Amino acid sequence: MSLKTILAGSVFAMASFAASMAGATTIGFSQVGSEGDWRPAFSKNMQDTAKDYDVDLKFADAQGKQEEQLRAVRAFIAQGVDAIIIAPVVVTGWDDVLQEAKDADIPVFLVDRDVEVKDKSLYVTRISADFNLEGRLAGAWLAAASKGTCKIVELQGTTGSAPAIERKKGFEAIISQFPAMEIVATQSGDFTTEGGKKVMEAFIKSTNNLDGICASFAHNDNMQLGAIQAMKEAGLKPGQDVLMVSVDYVPAIKDALAKGEANASVELRSAVGGFIYPVVLDYLKNPHELDKWIVIPSDLHTAKD
Ligand code: AHR
Repeated sequence: MSLKTILAGSVFAMASFAASMAGATTIGFSQVGSEGDWRPAFSKNMQDTAKDYDVDLKFADAQGKQEEQLRAVRAFIAQGVDAIIIAPVVVTGWDDVLQEAKDADIPVFLVDRDVEVKDKSLYVTRISADFNLEGRLAGAWLAAASKGTCKIVELQGTTGSAPAIERKKGFEAIISQFPAMEIVATQSGDFTTEGGKKVMEAFIKSTNNLDGICASFAHNDNMQLGAIQAMKEAGLKPGQDVLMVSVDYVPAIKDALAKGEANASVELRSAVGGFIYPVVLDYLKNPHELDKWIVIPSDLHTAKD
C-alpha cells in the first residue's frame, strides 16, 4: 500500500469520525465514584453503551464527594452539553445547581440514587431500581430464613445517600412485623469492603464474638464481603453461624454464595445504559413530561439461583 493511499485512508477516517462526532449527542455524566464492585461495572456499561447510541459521553468521577459533583455539573453547563445525567452521592444540596441547569435549558436526568429537592421539575426523571423494595426483599428473605426470630447487625451505606436511607426503611418495614426480629447494632461502612470489615470488627467486639446474633444485613455486597473477612479472622463461620444478606449481587458475592459464606443478595442491575440512553435521547428529540421515576426491576438471589 502506498503512502498516498494510507494518508487518503486516514483523512477519510478522520473526516467520518468528525462527522459522526458532529451528529453525536453530548451528555455529561456525573458519577458517584468507584466505591465497590457494582459502581465501576455500572460506569463501564454507561461508557461502553454510549457508543451504541451515538452519545459523546463526558464522564466525571466525583470520588464520593458531592462538591466534586457540583463542580462537574457546573462545568457541563458551561460546556453547553445537550443533557446531564447525575448519580447523586447524597440526597440533599441539589436545588441550586439543578436550577442553574434549568436556567441554561439543559435537561437533567437522575440515575441510580435520588435527590430531595423542593421543585421536582428541576429534573426530568429518575431511572433507577427501587431501593426500598430491595430492603423489603432482604427483610422478607430473612424473616422466612429465621422463622421470624432474629437479632440483626446492620452495615449501612453512605450516610445521607438514597440507598442507605431507603434500604434501611424497607428492611425495617418488614422486620417490624415480627416482634422477635430486631436490629441490635447498626453503623455505616460507607459502601466499601474496608468499611464493612471495620464495622464488623467493631460488632464482633461489642457483642462478644456475635453471641446471639442471627444475621448480618449489609446495604451492599462489598461491605458484606468485608464483614465476611472480619468474621473469618475471628474464627466465625459466616453463612452458617450468622445469616448473611446484602444487596448488589456482584460476582464476588456469587462466589461467597456458592461457598456458603453468604446466603442471599438482592440484585441491583449494573448493565442499565440500554434503559437510560433511550429515555434521554427520546426526550431530547421530543421534550415532554415524563413520570418522575422509571423503575428498573430488582430480584433476590440465594445460593440456589
Ligand atoms: O447507589 C447504589 C449503591 O451504591 C450500590 O448498592 C452500592 O454498591 C453503591 O455504592
